[in-house]
Amino acid sequence: MYEDRIRRPALMEKLMSAEQAAKLFADGMTVGMSGFTRAGDAKALPAALVERARHEPLRLTLITGASLGNDSDGLMASAGVVARRLPFQSDAALRRKINSGEVMFIDQHLSETAEQLRSGDLAPVDVAVIEAVAITADGGIVPSMSVGNSANFVLQAKKVIVEINLAAPLALEGLHDIYLPAPRPRRGAIPLINAWQRIGTSAIQVDPARIAAIVITDSPDSPSNALPGDAETDAIAGHVIAFLEGEVKAGRMGPELLPLQAGIGTIANAVLHGLIDSPFRDMTMYSEVLQDSAIELLDSGQLAMASASSITLSAKMHQHFIDNLERYRQRIVLRPQEISNHPEVVRRLGIIALNTALEFDIYGNVNSTHVGGTHMMNGIGGSGDFARNGQLSLFVSKSVAKGGAISSVVPMASHVDHTEHDVDVLVTEWGLADLRGLAPRERAVLIIENCAHPDYRPQLRAYYEEALLGGGQTPHVLEKALSWHARYKTAGTMLQPAA
Ligand code: COA
Repeated sequence: MYEDRIRRPALMEKLMSAEQAAKLFADGMTVGMSGFTRAGDAKALPAALVERARHEPLRLTLITGASLGNDSDGLMASAGVVARRLPFQSDAALRRKINSGEVMFIDQHLSETAEQLRSGDLAPVDVAVIEAVAITADGGIVPSMSVGNSANFVLQAKKVIVEINLAAPLALEGLHDIYLPAPRPRRGAIPLINAWQRIGTSAIQVDPARIAAIVITDSPDSPSNALPGDAETDAIAGHVIAFLEGEVKAGRMGPELLPLQAGIGTIANAVLHGLIDSPFRDMTMYSEVLQDSAIELLDSGQLAMASASSITLSAKMHQHFIDNLERYRQRIVLRPQEISNHPEVVRRLGIIALNTALEFDIYGNVNSTHVGGTHMMNGIGGSGDFARNGQLSLFVSKSVAKGGAISSVVPMASHVDHTEHDVDVLVTEWGLADLRGLAPRERAVLIIENCAHPDYRPQLRAYYEEALLGGGQTPHVLEKALSWHARYKTAGTMLQPAA
């Protein structure tokens, strides 16, 4: 039994239940778990840790690739297992614990966690829990639907627990490309000069003596929670496509565009889906997550190949992907997240970065993380890795949220993840503002007139005109700059009462 999955016979004696494996943890430990945007996450150990925490104190620092599926983040947070969490999450229950101050959340650029572990800036990982398709004869761990930070966790952990998931097809083997950069400061260049290239190994190498437990599971990844697009996301996609057609016409890129990165969530997925109706061909993706839209573009033939760190799909698309895995295997590469998001590689390849904003201000500063300037939504994820280093950085958003009570275009962003220096293009359903080569005063006019919802344009114009009276490179009326957010809190809308 399991010979095709555990190909090193001596490791069979490490087979145990999740409950037994959970005994390997101690209160206060740092744990590195696989899992990236609900893909390739450990399925059994989170539940076993929750169970253990019912009877004894167990507070852990939990590091992952990104968000976990199976409600694991929420269940562990609710059971008090998570004391500190990094680098990303997207779970409602964990979000509540973060915003109430019960969980300390370190919101990081996703390329940086591995560097901070390697350099000792973060406490070392005590136990790694990695979901795998198989363990090879020479002790290589073959990851499942994501790579994330798993290779770094395995390299560092004193004990490695492998969850072999029978629901993850063996045909996933060969999809991964595990390459870890050498320590700094004498690191050479990362030898990746196109999105297709494979520069590493197909499994995570580990000394089999450090594998402390093997647990068998049999459950698929949680499906993506991205919603279908709507009229507004269609309009946003239309503006993005028209813009890219303009770039091709101007000779700044060919019809295959530059390698594309697309962020998580409903809007980015819908915009990428919109590319199906575009004239572009032979496109490549160098991204962090592949959502349904990437598979649709591979199917339509417009996308030649896709490189990422995880594959997060709806239930229907997941089945389609598994059924046709042989067709995709040569056209998809899954890498560690520090490589998929690496500033060096993103700068070299000249990525078109497409990410989503919660809000942006009239000068182009973008808030992707903090609702109302204070409350964490999900985290910055990889958006900063790509926006700062890509050739073109686009941010998309619907112009209003909460039925029009919130304007996504505001006088001053209530929290800034991406500064005006890292943002080239802003897009809402109303239009697109190409900010390249523009000074703040030029940006403001374009953003208000092209991107803001018509209901909010008069307010924004009035704010900007008043700000101009005070002068400056980036004019503001400081006492009013965040008054829209304050008004939403007290009056339930950012709209000013009619005069
Ligand atoms: N203020 C308050 N809430 C806002 C808001 C604003 N300015 N703008 C949007 N929202 C709310 C929406 O109402 C919605 O709430 P609901 O879930 O209660 O309906 C929620 O935010 C999500 O917005 P939605 O319009 O559905 O967009 P999305 O699913 O595409 O997610 C982000 C948008 C910004 C939350 C998401 O893209 C994200 O977390 N980004 C940061 C990480 C990132 O960019 N990673 C990319 C690299 S992979």
